[in-house]
Amino acid sequence: MNVTIVGTGYVGLGTGVMLAYLGHQVIGLDTDPTKIESLKRGEIPIYEPGLDQLLAEAQANLHWTTDYAHAIPNADVIFICVGTPPQSDGRPNLSYLEGAARSIAQNLNGKTQVIVNKSTVPIGSGDWVSRIIEEHAVDYHANRYFVVSNPEFLREGTALGDSLYPDRIVLGGIAAGLVRMRQLYAPLIHQSFKAPDYVPRPKEYTVPAVVETTLTSAEMIKYAANAFLALKISYANEIAGLCERVGANIDEVTAGIGFDQRIGHRFLAAGAGWGGSCFGKDTSALITTGGDYGYEMPILSAAIEVNQRQRSTVIDKLQKHLRLLKGKRVAVLGMAFKPNTDDLRDAPAHDFIARLNLLGATVVAHDPVAMERARKEWAHLRYQEAATAQDAINGADAVIIATEWTEYRRLNWNSKVRSMRNALVIDARNVISEPLDVPAVIEQIGKEL
Ligand code: UGA
Repeated sequence: MNVTIVGTGYVGLGTGVMLAYLGHQVIGLDTDPTKIESLKRGEIPIYEPGLDQLLAEAQANLHWTTDYAHAIPNADVIFICVGTPPQSDGRPNLSYLEGAARSIAQNLNGKTQVIVNKSTVPIGSGDWVSRIIEEHAVDYHANRYFVVSNPEFLREGTALGDSLYPDRIVLGGIAAGLVRMRQLYAPLIHQSFKAPDYVPRPKEYTVPAVVETTLTSAEMIKYAANAFLALKISYANEIAGLCERVGANIDEVTAGIGFDQRIGHRFLAAGAGWGGSCFGKDTSALITTGGDYGYEMPILSAAIEVNQRQRSTVIDKLQKHLRLLKGKRVAVLGMAFKPNTDDLRDAPAHDFIARLNLLGATVVAHDPVAMERARKEWAHLRYQEAATAQDAINGADAVIIATEWTEYRRLNWNSKVRSMRNALVIDARNVISEPLDVPAVIEQIGKEL
Protein backbone atom coordinates (compact mmCIF):
# COMPACT_ATOMS: atom_id res chain seq x y z
CA MET A 1 0.00 0.00 0.00
CA ASN A 2 1.03 3.62 -0.37
CA VAL A 3 1.28 5.21 3.02
CA THR A 4 1.99 8.82 3.93
CA ILE A 5 3.03 9.83 7.40
CA VAL A 6 2.49 13.48 8.26
CA GLY A 7 4.87 14.50 11.07
CA THR A 8 8.20 12.78 11.63
CA GLY A 9 8.47 13.00 15.41
CA TYR A 10 8.74 9.93 17.67
CA VAL A 11 5.39 8.48 16.68
CA GLY A 12 5.60 9.32 12.97
CA LEU A 13 9.12 8.03 12.50
CA GLY A 14 8.48 4.83 14.41
CA THR A 15 5.24 4.16 12.55
CA GLY A 16 6.70 5.02 9.15
CA VAL A 17 9.79 2.87 9.52
CA MET A 18 7.70 -0.01 10.87
CA LEU A 19 5.25 0.13 7.95
CA ALA A 20 8.11 0.38 5.44
CA TYR A 21 9.63 -2.69 7.06
CA LEU A 22 6.28 -4.49 6.61
CA GLY A 23 6.62 -3.83 2.87
CA HIS A 24 4.51 -0.71 2.32
CA GLN A 25 5.70 2.25 0.29
CA VAL A 26 6.03 5.02 2.84
CA ILE A 27 6.43 8.75 2.36
CA GLY A 28 7.38 10.68 5.48
CA LEU A 29 6.27 14.29 5.33
CA ASP A 30 7.37 17.07 7.63
CA THR A 31 7.08 20.81 7.21
CA ASP A 32 10.55 21.24 8.74
CA PRO A 33 12.99 21.10 5.79
CA THR A 34 16.10 20.55 7.96
CA LYS A 35 14.49 17.47 9.48
CA ILE A 36 13.63 16.10 6.03
CA GLU A 37 17.11 16.83 4.69
CA SER A 38 18.73 14.92 7.54
CA LEU A 39 16.30 12.01 7.13
CA LYS A 40 17.20 11.87 3.45
CA ARG A 41 20.82 11.43 4.52
CA GLY A 42 19.68 8.56 6.73
CA GLU A 43 20.18 10.52 9.95
CA ILE A 44 17.57 10.08 12.68
CA PRO A 45 16.87 13.15 14.82
CA ILE A 46 15.96 11.11 17.93
CA TYR A 47 17.56 8.39 20.00
CA GLU A 48 15.58 5.14 19.83
CA PRO A 49 17.30 1.77 20.16
CA GLY A 50 17.29 -0.22 16.90
CA LEU A 51 15.53 2.47 14.86
CA ASP A 52 18.62 3.27 12.76
CA GLN A 53 19.03 -0.43 11.89
CA LEU A 54 15.38 -0.89 10.97
CA LEU A 55 15.49 2.31 8.92
CA ALA A 56 18.52 1.03 7.04
CA GLU A 57 16.72 -2.26 6.34
CA ALA A 58 13.56 -0.53 5.11
CA GLN A 59 15.38 2.25 3.25
CA ALA A 60 14.15 1.18 -0.19
CA ASN A 61 10.52 1.68 0.86
CA LEU A 62 11.04 5.05 2.54
CA HIS A 63 10.88 8.48 0.97
CA TRP A 64 10.95 11.93 2.55
CA THR A 65 9.34 15.17 1.52
CA THR A 66 8.03 18.54 2.70
CA ASP A 67 5.47 18.70 -0.09
CA TYR A 68 1.82 17.77 0.51
CA ALA A 69 1.06 17.89 -3.23
CA HIS A 70 3.60 15.10 -3.70
CA ALA A 71 2.72 13.01 -0.67
CA ILE A 72 -1.08 13.01 -0.48
CA PRO A 73 -2.77 12.29 -3.84
CA ASN A 74 -1.48 8.73 -4.24
CA ALA A 75 -1.66 7.65 -0.62
CA ASP A 76 -4.05 4.86 0.33
CA VAL A 77 -3.58 5.62 4.00
CA ILE A 78 -2.47 8.94 5.48
CA PHE A 79 -1.32 9.01 9.09
CA ILE A 80 -1.45 12.24 11.04
CA CYS A 81 1.38 12.05 13.57
CA VAL A 82 1.92 15.72 14.41
CA GLY A 83 2.61 16.97 17.92
CA THR A 84 -0.16 18.09 20.26
CA PRO A 85 1.97 19.81 22.92
CA PRO A 86 0.30 20.81 26.17
CA GLN A 87 -0.67 24.44 26.76
CA SER A 88 -0.54 26.16 30.10
CA ASP A 89 -4.22 25.36 30.83
CA GLY A 90 -3.63 21.62 30.36
CA ARG A 91 -5.32 21.51 26.97
CA PRO A 92 -3.33 20.21 24.03
CA ASN A 93 -2.40 22.64 21.27
CA LEU A 94 -4.26 21.40 18.20
CA SER A 95 -2.99 23.92 15.66
CA TYR A 96 -0.59 21.42 14.04
CA LEU A 97 -3.37 18.88 13.75
CA GLU A 98 -5.67 21.43 12.16
CA GLY A 99 -2.97 22.57 9.73
CA ALA A 100 -2.16 18.99 8.73
CA ALA A 101 -5.85 18.10 8.22
CA ARG A 102 -6.36 21.15 6.00
CA SER A 103 -3.29 20.51 3.88
CA ILE A 104 -4.30 16.87 3.49
CA ALA A 105 -7.85 17.88 2.49
CA GLN A 106 -6.59 20.25 -0.17
CA ASN A 107 -4.59 17.47 -1.80
CA LEU A 108 -6.97 14.51 -1.73
CA ASN A 109 -7.66 13.23 -5.24
CA GLY A 110 -11.06 11.59 -5.16
CA LYS A 111 -10.02 7.96 -4.79
CA THR A 112 -10.73 6.14 -1.54
CA GLN A 113 -8.33 7.42 1.08
CA VAL A 114 -8.13 6.71 4.76
CA ILE A 115 -6.94 9.47 7.07
CA VAL A 116 -5.69 8.15 10.38
CA ASN A 117 -5.30 10.01 13.63
CA LYS A 118 -2.28 8.41 15.26
CA SER A 119 -1.22 11.28 17.50
CA THR A 120 -2.91 11.34 20.87
CA VAL A 121 -5.74 13.74 20.20
CA PRO A 122 -8.54 14.94 22.45
CA ILE A 123 -11.74 12.97 22.40
CA GLY A 124 -13.83 14.29 19.53
CA SER A 125 -10.87 15.16 17.30
CA GLY A 126 -11.67 12.43 14.78
CA ASP A 127 -15.04 14.02 14.07
CA TRP A 128 -13.41 17.42 13.92
CA VAL A 129 -10.80 16.22 11.40
CA SER A 130 -13.65 14.72 9.32
CA ARG A 131 -15.31 18.12 9.26
CA ILE A 132 -12.09 19.87 8.23
CA ILE A 133 -11.72 17.36 5.39
CA GLU A 134 -15.31 17.95 4.37
CA GLU A 135 -14.86 21.72 4.36
CA HIS A 136 -11.50 21.90 2.63
CA ALA A 137 -11.41 18.99 0.18
CA VAL A 138 -11.50 20.37 -3.34
CA ASP A 139 -13.94 17.75 -4.49
CA TYR A 140 -15.52 16.18 -1.40
CA HIS A 141 -16.66 12.56 -1.48
CA ALA A 142 -18.30 11.42 1.74
CA ASN A 143 -18.09 7.78 0.77
CA ARG A 144 -14.41 7.93 -0.21
CA TYR A 145 -12.65 9.72 2.63
CA PHE A 146 -12.66 7.93 5.94
CA VAL A 147 -11.19 9.17 9.18
CA VAL A 148 -9.93 6.44 11.48
CA SER A 149 -8.49 6.63 14.97
CA ASN A 150 -5.58 4.23 15.48
CA PRO A 151 -3.89 5.25 18.71
CA GLU A 152 -0.29 4.45 19.40
CA PHE A 153 0.78 2.49 22.47
CA LEU A 154 4.53 2.49 21.98
CA ARG A 155 6.88 3.57 24.71
CA GLU A 156 9.97 5.59 23.97
CA GLY A 157 13.02 3.40 24.37
CA THR A 158 11.13 0.23 23.40
CA ALA A 159 9.24 1.70 20.47
CA LEU A 160 10.23 -0.98 17.96
CA GLY A 161 9.22 -3.93 20.10
CA ASP A 162 5.99 -2.18 21.08
CA SER A 163 5.02 -1.48 17.48
CA LEU A 164 6.13 -4.74 15.88
CA TYR A 165 4.86 -6.95 18.71
CA PRO A 166 1.86 -5.00 19.99
CA ASP A 167 -0.62 -6.37 22.56
CA ARG A 168 -3.45 -4.88 20.59
CA ILE A 169 -4.27 -2.80 17.55
CA VAL A 170 -7.11 -0.37 18.18
CA LEU A 171 -9.07 0.83 15.17
CA GLY A 172 -11.95 3.27 15.47
CA GLY A 173 -14.17 4.48 12.67
CA ILE A 174 -16.64 3.19 10.13
CA ALA A 175 -16.27 -0.26 8.61
CA ALA A 176 -14.98 0.77 5.16
CA GLY A 177 -12.03 2.56 6.74
CA LEU A 178 -11.30 -0.25 9.18
CA VAL A 179 -11.10 -2.88 6.45
CA ARG A 180 -8.20 -1.06 4.85
CA MET A 181 -6.47 -0.64 8.20
CA ARG A 182 -6.67 -4.38 8.79
CA GLN A 183 -5.05 -4.96 5.40
CA LEU A 184 -2.31 -2.50 6.28
CA TYR A 185 -1.47 -4.34 9.49
CA ALA A 186 -2.10 -7.83 8.08
CA PRO A 187 1.57 -8.94 8.29
CA LEU A 188 1.66 -8.11 12.03
CA ILE A 189 -1.54 -9.99 12.74
CA HIS A 190 -0.13 -13.12 11.13
CA GLN A 191 0.94 -15.96 13.44
CA SER A 192 4.31 -16.39 11.70
CA PHE A 193 5.35 -12.74 11.88
CA LYS A 194 8.91 -12.27 13.02
CA ALA A 195 10.70 -8.93 13.49
CA PRO A 196 14.49 -8.67 13.11
CA ASP A 197 16.53 -10.27 15.91
CA TYR A 198 17.52 -6.95 17.47
CA VAL A 199 13.86 -6.29 18.32
CA PRO A 200 13.11 -8.22 21.51
CA ARG A 201 10.01 -10.37 21.31
CA PRO A 202 7.94 -10.39 24.50
CA LYS A 203 7.75 -13.71 26.31
CA GLU A 204 4.69 -15.76 25.42
CA TYR A 205 3.84 -13.38 22.59
CA THR A 206 0.92 -14.28 20.37
CA VAL A 207 -0.76 -12.25 17.65
CA PRO A 208 -2.20 -8.90 18.70
CA ALA A 209 -5.87 -8.48 19.50
CA VAL A 210 -7.59 -6.23 16.98
CA VAL A 211 -10.12 -3.99 18.68
CA GLU A 212 -12.57 -2.46 16.23
CA THR A 213 -14.74 0.28 17.61
CA THR A 214 -16.07 3.79 17.02
CA LEU A 215 -13.87 6.84 16.54
CA THR A 216 -14.74 8.21 19.94
CA SER A 217 -14.20 4.96 21.81
CA ALA A 218 -10.80 4.49 20.15
CA GLU A 219 -9.79 7.99 21.25
CA MET A 220 -11.02 7.22 24.75
CA ILE A 221 -9.08 3.93 24.87
CA LYS A 222 -5.80 5.78 24.39
CA TYR A 223 -6.41 8.27 27.19
CA ALA A 224 -7.92 5.73 29.51
CA ALA A 225 -4.91 3.42 29.03
CA ASN A 226 -2.31 6.10 29.73
CA ALA A 227 -4.26 7.48 32.66
CA PHE A 228 -4.58 4.00 34.15
CA LEU A 229 -0.82 3.41 33.88
CA ALA A 230 -0.14 6.81 35.44
CA LEU A 231 -2.59 5.92 38.19
CA LYS A 232 -0.81 2.62 38.87
CA ILE A 233 2.53 4.37 39.29
CA SER A 234 1.09 7.08 41.54
CA TYR A 235 -0.62 4.39 43.58
CA ALA A 236 2.71 2.58 44.03
CA ASN A 237 4.33 5.88 45.01
CA GLU A 238 1.64 6.67 47.53
CA ILE A 239 2.03 3.22 49.07
CA ALA A 240 5.83 3.68 49.00
CA GLY A 241 5.51 6.80 51.14
CA LEU A 242 3.55 4.86 53.73
CA CYS A 243 6.05 1.96 53.54
CA GLU A 244 8.81 4.38 54.54
CA ARG A 245 6.82 5.53 57.53
CA VAL A 246 5.82 2.12 58.82
CA GLY A 247 9.08 0.37 57.89
CA ALA A 248 7.78 -1.85 55.07
CA ASN A 249 9.60 -2.47 51.79
CA ILE A 250 7.84 -1.25 48.65
CA ASP A 251 9.63 -3.70 46.35
CA GLU A 252 8.37 -6.62 48.39
CA VAL A 253 4.92 -5.07 48.67
CA THR A 254 4.52 -4.51 44.93
CA ALA A 255 5.97 -7.93 44.17
CA GLY A 256 3.45 -9.38 46.59
CA ILE A 257 0.44 -7.63 45.14
CA GLY A 258 1.59 -8.07 41.54
CA PHE A 259 1.19 -11.85 41.68
CA ASP A 260 -2.52 -11.21 41.78
CA GLN A 261 -3.30 -11.57 38.08
CA ARG A 262 -5.87 -8.82 38.39
CA ILE A 263 -3.13 -6.36 39.39
CA GLY A 264 0.01 -7.62 37.64
CA HIS A 265 3.61 -6.59 38.21
CA ARG A 266 4.07 -3.93 35.59
CA PHE A 267 4.05 -0.17 36.10
CA LEU A 268 4.24 -0.46 39.84
CA ALA A 269 7.88 0.63 40.21
CA ALA A 270 7.99 3.37 42.84
CA GLY A 271 10.47 6.19 42.31
CA ALA A 272 10.64 9.79 41.19
CA GLY A 273 7.26 9.41 39.52
CA TRP A 274 6.20 9.53 35.92
CA GLY A 275 7.43 12.03 33.38
CA GLY A 276 7.73 12.16 29.62
CA SER A 277 5.49 13.65 27.02
CA CYS A 278 2.45 11.45 27.53
CA PHE A 279 1.25 10.73 31.04
CA GLY A 280 1.25 14.32 32.30
CA LYS A 281 -0.28 15.67 29.12
CA ASP A 282 -2.89 12.96 28.77
CA THR A 283 -4.05 12.91 32.37
CA SER A 284 -4.44 16.71 32.32
CA ALA A 285 -6.20 16.61 28.97
CA LEU A 286 -8.66 14.01 30.22
CA ILE A 287 -9.43 16.13 33.26
CA THR A 288 -10.03 19.22 31.11
CA THR A 289 -12.28 17.20 28.79
CA GLY A 290 -14.23 16.16 31.88
CA GLY A 291 -14.34 19.84 32.87
CA ASP A 292 -15.92 20.73 29.54
CA TYR A 293 -18.85 18.57 30.61
CA GLY A 294 -18.88 19.81 34.20
CA TYR A 295 -17.58 16.40 35.23
CA GLU A 296 -14.85 16.11 37.85
CA MET A 297 -12.28 13.32 37.79
CA PRO A 298 -10.98 13.18 41.36
CA ILE A 299 -9.04 9.93 40.96
CA LEU A 300 -6.97 11.36 38.12
CA SER A 301 -6.47 14.67 39.88
CA ALA A 302 -5.11 12.76 42.86
CA ALA A 303 -2.75 10.77 40.63
CA ILE A 304 -1.27 14.03 39.33
CA GLU A 305 -0.99 15.44 42.83
CA VAL A 306 0.85 12.37 44.07
CA ASN A 307 3.20 12.59 41.12
CA GLN A 308 4.03 16.21 41.93
CA ARG A 309 4.52 15.44 45.58
CA GLN A 310 6.88 12.65 44.64
CA ARG A 311 9.27 15.12 43.05
CA SER A 312 9.32 17.35 46.13
CA THR A 313 9.93 14.29 48.29
CA VAL A 314 13.29 13.78 46.63
CA ILE A 315 14.52 17.28 47.51
CA ASP A 316 12.97 16.97 51.00
CA LYS A 317 15.16 13.92 51.58
CA LEU A 318 18.20 15.93 50.56
CA GLN A 319 17.28 18.75 52.93
CA LYS A 320 16.67 16.32 55.77
CA HIS A 321 20.34 15.31 55.65
CA LEU A 322 22.16 18.39 54.37
CA ARG A 323 19.88 21.03 55.94
CA LEU A 324 21.17 24.09 54.09
CA LEU A 325 21.69 23.44 50.40
CA LYS A 326 23.24 26.81 49.60
CA GLY A 327 26.73 26.28 48.19
CA LYS A 328 26.44 22.48 48.42
CA ARG A 329 27.51 20.49 45.40
CA VAL A 330 24.78 18.13 44.21
CA ALA A 331 25.30 15.61 41.42
CA VAL A 332 22.23 14.75 39.36
CA LEU A 333 22.62 11.44 37.54
CA GLY A 334 20.20 11.08 34.66
CA MET A 335 18.37 13.90 32.93
CA ALA A 336 16.12 12.05 30.45
CA PHE A 337 12.65 11.22 31.83
CA LYS A 338 13.52 7.52 31.68
CA PRO A 339 16.41 5.36 30.42
CA ASN A 340 17.09 4.58 26.75
CA THR A 341 15.82 7.89 25.47
CA ASP A 342 17.16 11.42 25.17
CA ASP A 343 13.68 12.85 25.70
CA LEU A 344 13.70 15.51 28.40
CA ARG A 345 10.03 16.41 28.41
CA ASP A 346 8.59 16.59 31.92
CA ALA A 347 11.67 14.83 33.28
CA PRO A 348 11.88 14.73 37.09
CA ALA A 349 15.55 15.81 36.81
CA HIS A 350 14.37 19.14 35.40
CA ASP A 351 12.37 19.89 38.52
CA PHE A 352 15.17 18.69 40.79
CA ILE A 353 17.67 21.03 39.13
CA ALA A 354 15.21 23.95 39.10
CA ARG A 355 14.55 23.53 42.82
CA LEU A 356 18.27 23.13 43.58
CA ASN A 357 18.92 26.34 41.62
CA LEU A 358 16.38 28.15 43.80
CA LEU A 359 17.97 26.76 46.93
CA GLY A 360 21.43 27.95 45.84
CA ALA A 361 23.07 24.54 45.40
CA THR A 362 25.74 23.93 42.76
CA VAL A 363 24.44 21.30 40.37
CA VAL A 364 26.61 18.95 38.34
CA ALA A 365 24.59 16.83 35.93
CA HIS A 366 25.26 13.78 33.79
CA ASP A 367 23.26 11.72 31.32
CA PRO A 368 24.55 9.08 28.89
CA VAL A 369 22.65 10.48 25.89
CA ALA A 370 20.55 13.53 26.80
CA MET A 371 23.19 16.15 27.66
CA GLU A 372 23.41 17.64 24.21
CA ARG A 373 19.66 18.05 24.00
CA ALA A 374 19.61 19.53 27.51
CA ARG A 375 22.10 22.19 26.44
CA LYS A 376 19.40 23.56 24.14
CA GLU A 377 16.22 22.74 25.99
CA TRP A 378 17.33 23.43 29.55
CA ALA A 379 19.29 26.63 28.87
CA HIS A 380 17.15 28.28 31.59
CA LEU A 381 18.61 25.99 34.28
CA ARG A 382 22.00 26.42 35.95
CA TYR A 383 24.15 23.31 36.09
CA GLN A 384 27.60 22.12 35.08
CA GLU A 385 27.89 19.22 32.70
CA ALA A 386 29.93 16.23 33.75
CA ALA A 387 31.51 14.11 31.01
CA THR A 388 31.09 10.95 33.08
CA ALA A 389 29.05 9.88 36.09
CA GLN A 390 32.31 9.70 38.06
CA ASP A 391 33.10 13.33 37.23
CA ALA A 392 29.70 14.33 38.56
CA ILE A 393 30.14 12.33 41.76
CA ASN A 394 33.68 13.52 42.56
CA GLY A 395 33.59 15.87 45.52
CA ALA A 396 29.78 16.03 45.66
CA ASP A 397 27.90 16.60 48.92
CA ALA A 398 25.07 14.47 47.58
CA VAL A 399 24.09 12.47 44.53
CA ILE A 400 20.54 12.21 43.21
CA ILE A 401 19.88 9.25 40.93
CA ALA A 402 17.08 10.66 38.79
CA THR A 403 16.98 8.15 35.92
CA GLU A 404 17.56 4.41 36.20
CA TRP A 405 20.13 4.05 33.42
CA THR A 406 21.80 0.62 33.52
CA GLU A 407 25.11 2.45 33.65
CA TYR A 408 24.20 3.85 37.09
CA ARG A 409 22.91 0.51 38.30
CA ARG A 410 26.25 -1.06 37.42
CA LEU A 411 28.44 1.56 39.10
CA ASN A 412 30.49 0.28 41.99
CA TRP A 413 28.76 2.43 44.56
CA ASN A 414 31.20 1.43 47.32
CA SER A 415 34.02 3.09 45.49
CA LYS A 416 31.87 5.94 44.18
CA VAL A 417 30.75 7.21 47.56
CA ARG A 418 34.40 7.30 48.65
CA SER A 419 35.02 9.99 46.08
CA MET A 420 32.27 12.17 47.51
CA ARG A 421 32.76 14.98 49.95
CA ASN A 422 29.83 13.65 51.90
CA ALA A 423 28.47 10.13 51.32
CA LEU A 424 24.79 10.84 50.67
CA VAL A 425 22.91 9.22 47.80
CA ILE A 426 19.24 9.97 47.12
CA ASP A 427 18.42 6.96 44.99
CA ALA A 428 15.13 8.20 43.54
CA ARG A 429 14.87 5.16 41.25
CA ASN A 430 15.83 2.42 43.70
CA VAL A 431 18.73 1.28 41.54
CA ILE A 432 21.17 0.38 44.33
CA SER A 433 20.29 -3.16 45.27
CA GLU A 434 22.51 -3.94 48.26
CA PRO A 435 23.73 -2.12 51.36
CA LEU A 436 27.19 -0.64 50.87
CA ASP A 437 30.29 -1.86 52.71
CA VAL A 438 31.41 1.68 53.43
CA PRO A 439 29.65 4.22 55.65
CA ALA A 440 27.13 6.12 53.56
CA VAL A 441 23.56 7.32 53.72
CA ILE A 442 21.46 5.84 50.94
CA GLU A 443 17.91 7.17 50.75
CA GLN A 444 15.55 5.20 48.56
CA ILE A 445 11.84 5.43 47.77
CA GLY A 446 9.62 3.27 49.92
CA LYS A 447 12.31 1.10 51.47
CA GLU A 448 15.57 1.01 53.38
CA LEU A 449 18.55 -0.94 52.16
C1 UGA B 1 3.69 5.94 27.59
C2 UGA B 1 2.90 4.61 27.55
O1 UGA B 1 3.56 3.61 28.33
C3 UGA B 1 2.75 4.12 26.11
O2 UGA B 1 1.94 2.95 26.09
C4 UGA B 1 2.09 5.23 25.28
O3 UGA B 1 1.99 4.84 23.92
C5 UGA B 1 2.93 6.49 25.37
O4 UGA B 1 3.04 6.89 26.72
C6 UGA B 1 2.26 7.56 24.57
O5 UGA B 1 1.15 7.98 24.90
O6 UGA B 1 2.77 7.94 23.50
P1 UGA B 1 6.29 6.62 27.51
O7 UGA B 1 5.82 7.94 28.01
O8 UGA B 1 7.23 6.56 26.36
O9 UGA B 1 5.02 5.70 27.11
O10 UGA B 1 7.08 5.92 28.70
P2 UGA B 1 6.74 4.85 29.84
O11 UGA B 1 7.70 3.76 29.72
O12 UGA B 1 5.33 4.52 29.90
O13 UGA B 1 7.13 5.68 31.15
C7 UGA B 1 6.43 6.85 31.55
C8 UGA B 1 6.96 7.34 32.89
O14 UGA B 1 6.55 6.47 33.93
C9 UGA B 1 8.48 7.42 32.99
O15 UGA B 1 8.83 8.62 33.62
C10 UGA B 1 8.85 6.22 33.82
O16 UGA B 1 10.04 6.42 34.52
C11 UGA B 1 7.65 6.15 34.75
N1 UGA B 1 7.43 4.81 35.33
C12 UGA B 1 7.10 3.76 34.53
C13 UGA B 1 7.51 4.64 36.69
O17 UGA B 1 7.81 5.59 37.45
N2 UGA B 1 7.27 3.40 37.22
C14 UGA B 1 6.93 2.35 36.46
O18 UGA B 1 6.70 1.26 37.02
C15 UGA B 1 6.86 2.53 35.09
